Amino acid sequence: MKFCEIIAVSNQKGGVGKTTTAVNLATALAALGRRVLVVDADPQGNASTGLGVERDGRAHDLYRLISGAITLKDALMPTSAEGVDLIAASADLSAIELELASKKTRNHRIKTLLDKLKSDYQYIFIDCPPSLGLLTVNALVAADSVLIPLQCEYYALEGLSQLMESIELVRGGLNRRLGIKGVVLTMYDGRNNLAQMVVADVRAHLGALVYKTLIPRNVRVSEAPSYGVPVLLYDANSSGAEAYIALAREFTKQEGKHDAKNTKK
Ligand SMILES: Nc1ncnc2c1ncn2[C@@H]1O[C@H](COP(=O)(O)OP(=O)(O)O)[C@@H](O)[C@H]1O
Ligand SMILES: [Mg+2]
Repeated sequence: MKFCEIIAVSNQKGGVGKTTTAVNLATALAALGRRVLVVDADPQGNASTGLGVERDGRAHDLYRLISGAITLKDALMPTSAEGVDLIAASADLSAIELELASKKTRNHRIKTLLDKLKSDYQYIFIDCPPSLGLLTVNALVAADSVLIPLQCEYYALEGLSQLMESIELVRGGLNRRLGIKGVVLTMYDGRNNLAQMVVADVRAHLGALVYKTLIPRNVRVSEAPSYGVPVLLYDANSSGAEAYIALAREFTKQEGKHDAKNTKK
């Protein structure tokens, strides 16, 4: 397997399942034999927590890596999930936007770092913060593609146009090869008529961009982070774990046909 794809998990809305998807999809892909890295680019550090790296274990974090205080080798750490490595985030990361603002290389810091890791991993997920600030721009510049989680709720599509505009902007200059990996619908509750309507609506608007797998709302998914493990390790038989495995299988089917979902619009 000679490929490496860097995927920014992004949506400027908070609470839509970005971190949950980054952590659990990474774990499911590792379970299918891929080498995976998760880069926690959100100062909230939820991906680090979800992968079992406690706050006091985050001295070697993305902030220090970007500012040059530590090397990549220092920053890479193993996680509670076998086959998944992590570059953690601490609260200090929130300072990076201001510190980089006046620097010429401000948009390319994460790209420069991750390009050196392309021979070590098949998938590198960047868990973005809920904003379109400099950290997200860095992620979009570093990425080959964007994975967009949408929560199955009434306003799912609202705000998507803002993200699409940012993607177009980055495509227009900073990263011309940026594609859209796909849209994943999260927290689906099949008993809820509204959720079914939202799914139909999103599929009607976005067509083949949307993954077939629906991630159900499942309490095991939300419990797992407090134990520092992905849902696959917390309860492998839960509907959430099964869904992330199914999503990972859709990913492996995309391997080798890079452009399947990469067409514009
Ligand atoms: N499939 C799911 N079932 C139940 N709860 C979920 C599911 N996906 C996410 N959650 C919960 O929803 C909240 C927001 O998810 P999170 O992944 O942190 O969103 P984001 O990273 O976009 O802010 C978290 O408390 C998480 O545990
Ligand atoms: Mg998050």
